[in-house]
Amino acid sequence: MPSLETRIGELRLRNPVMTASGTFGYGQEYAEFVDLNRLGAVVVKGISLEPMQGNPVPRVVETPCGMLNAIGLQNVGLKAFLNEKLPFLRQFDTRVIVNILGNSVKDYVRLCQHLSDAGVDAIELNVSCPNVKKGGIAFGTDAAELGRLVESVRKASSVPLITKLSPNVGDVALFARVAAEAGTDAVSLINTLVGMVIDTVTRRPKLSNITGGLSGPAIRPVAVRMVWEVHRKTGLPIIGMGGIMTTEDALEFILAGASAVAVGTANFVNPGASVEIVDGLERYLAKARVSSVRELVGAVRT
Ligand SMILES: Cc1cc2nc3c(=O)[nH]c(=O)nc-3n(C[C@H](O)[C@H](O)[C@H](O)COP(=O)(O)O)c2cc1C
Repeated sequence: MPSLETRIGELRLRNPVMTASGTFGYGQEYAEFVDLNRLGAVVVKGISLEPMQGNPVPRVVETPCGMLNAIGLQNVGLKAFLNEKLPFLRQFDTRVIVNILGNSVKDYVRLCQHLSDAGVDAIELNVSCPNVKKGGIAFGTDAAELGRLVESVRKASSVPLITKLSPNVGDVALFARVAAEAGTDAVSLINTLVGMVIDTVTRRPKLSNITGGLSGPAIRPVAVRMVWEVHRKTGLPIIGMGGIMTTEDALEFILAGASAVAVGTANFVNPGASVEIVDGLERYLAKARVSSVRELVGAVRT
């Protein structure tokens, strides 16, 4: 049998397929349909220090080959996550990666301290949040702020740290390098691309928040290109995502340089997509007579 085992820095995964934050709840919501033991990791919905209600509806709209969302980071907050959600996930033989968000460096640092103490397998920083101290500019679109954030968070975390990069920048490899120099173990990319949809009858934006994040197959070629660039220019471990619906899509990311992949929007269409991709990768490796999925990482012939 070919090996699907992979590594993200120090973090060993039984296979390279995980769920993308915000598209799989806290795992509990999908456990009836998906055997969580079969996943490389579950990445949970972004957690903040306090619970958040999110934006008013409408906050999701379908787009050609994708969707636009402005959920507004609704989540149960750190306390409920640690008391209710984490114990549930711990029943399964899969890695638990916690996506976190804050409006200040202090918020992120506190989250990391608590989550490290709770022994989660890794922390993923969502840096697409507004930095309230810096006039609301997202941490992930200002290289200096990103460096400061990752450096502080690194000191507060005793578990592997993954920085989830924003695609809404000119040179994504520069941001990856900044995160690496500040101590991140890996990067995940990409988060959603900022978009807007207008209803021509009412002449109003279709989302209450006006703009939202575009995800799904529509963004896949952009995501694959960014993974390829960051792999080529930094060699950092990468979790690739953006429109992965099938095994072939996941393979594109791996060939471009991703050591693992995350399935996002596909979960809304086909809750079984991630496990189908695990099976599909195994079949692909066997057919191509490749002994380990790691041999394919960055193996695109350019
Ligand atoms: C409804 C929804 C909620 C999301 N929530 C989060 C989140 O809380 N934190 C985060 O880092 N990314 C979040 N994302 C981004 C996804 O994790 C992923 O990076 C992006 O959707 C691209 O992958 P996809 O095209 O496979 O969905 C969310 C995406 C969607 C569609």
